[in-house]
Amino acid sequence: MVEIEQVFVQAAEHRPKPSVTIAEGIPLIDLSPINYQQEFPSSSVSNIVEEIGRACKEWGFFQVINHKVPLGKRQRIEDAAKEFFGLSLEEKVKVRRDEKNVLGYFEAEHTKNVRDWKEIYDFNVQQPTFIPPSNDHDDDDDDDDINIQFQWDNRWPLSPPHFREACEDYAEEVEKLAYKLMELIALSLGLEANRFRGFFKHNTSNIRLNHYPPCPYPHLALGLGRHKDTGVLTVLNQDDVGGLQVRRKSDGEWITVKPIPNSFIINVGDMIQVWSNDAYESVEHRVMVNSERDRYSIPFFLKPALYTDVEPLQELTNHNNPPKYKPVNWGKFRIARMRSNFTKSSVENLQI
Ligand code: SIN
Ligand code: FE2
Repeated sequence: MVEIEQVFVQAAEHRPKPSVTIAEGIPLIDLSPINYQQEFPSSSVSNIVEEIGRACKEWGFFQVINHKVPLGKRQRIEDAAKEFFGLSLEEKVKVRRDEKNVLGYFEAEHTKNVRDWKEIYDFNVQQPTFIPPSNDHDDDDDDDDINIQFQWDNRWPLSPPHFREACEDYAEEVEKLAYKLMELIALSLGLEANRFRGFFKHNTSNIRLNHYPPCPYPHLALGLGRHKDTGVLTVLNQDDVGGLQVRRKSDGEWITVKPIPNSFIINVGDMIQVWSNDAYESVEHRVMVNSERDRYSIPFFLKPALYTDVEPLQELTNHNNPPKYKPVNWGKFRIARMRSNFTKSSVENLQI
């Protein structure tokens, strides 16, 4: 057998263990009372809010069913992703991301300097509005002008023919779900339901199509190395193959998330951790590969406008619970994380 290229090999302590318990694991939340009942008692909303609050606190992760994203639109993007990744490499690299444009196809993603066993395609849900020229005149070296350094232009492949439409239709639906979840999360923190809405007018949310091909070395490589999500909230569509693992907060154990048909896996990102002043924490996760089946997943990453300064919300801090983080400019934070391919520890750097 050919040997695995060294770039893919995880350090011994980060390799998946040969046998992992498939626990019931992360909480499953049924959104049908708010989505499918004409007149629902307010107690069903407060139950959901309570469940979400508990899940965010205890796991940083949960799954939802009866979420209202139409199955047909979900299947169309899944089919489009399979067809696209099934094209020749020569065809796919026509829309490859490059030094300047951060969007498109990429086959050599690294997480913490180890190559992931996968190929990806990224698109933005809307064209971001750049950071307005800043008023502070400090000329720090790290004060990079991200307006000039990067482009955020979607690169749509010509094939498969309905690829763009399938992506955009799905994005619209899943974005609605993300906003609904943010309302429930706001309520669970004791805030007004629409407290977060203003941060997303010029959002930089994106969708990633992931293809994890079968890997002859599942004990050495990972489909995606351990990391925390940088943004606000992730809404993940995983297929029935499985492989996502979440680090359980109570004991640090890696727990495999069992796929549930037509559900979404939701997780809290770094920005919720900052806004909530650590009430809800962004939790590490990773993806295992297997030697038999291709795995596909489609995360939607909810992200604020580039110019947003994120800091602990006033309503959630006080004398006894002072802000734990300095304000962070989302645009700069995102670029720094991208440049360092997730080696820089995330929000820990912002702690006061
Ligand atoms: C991610 O963490 O971004 C993707 C996880 C997955 O593919 O299940
Ligand atoms: Fe992630």
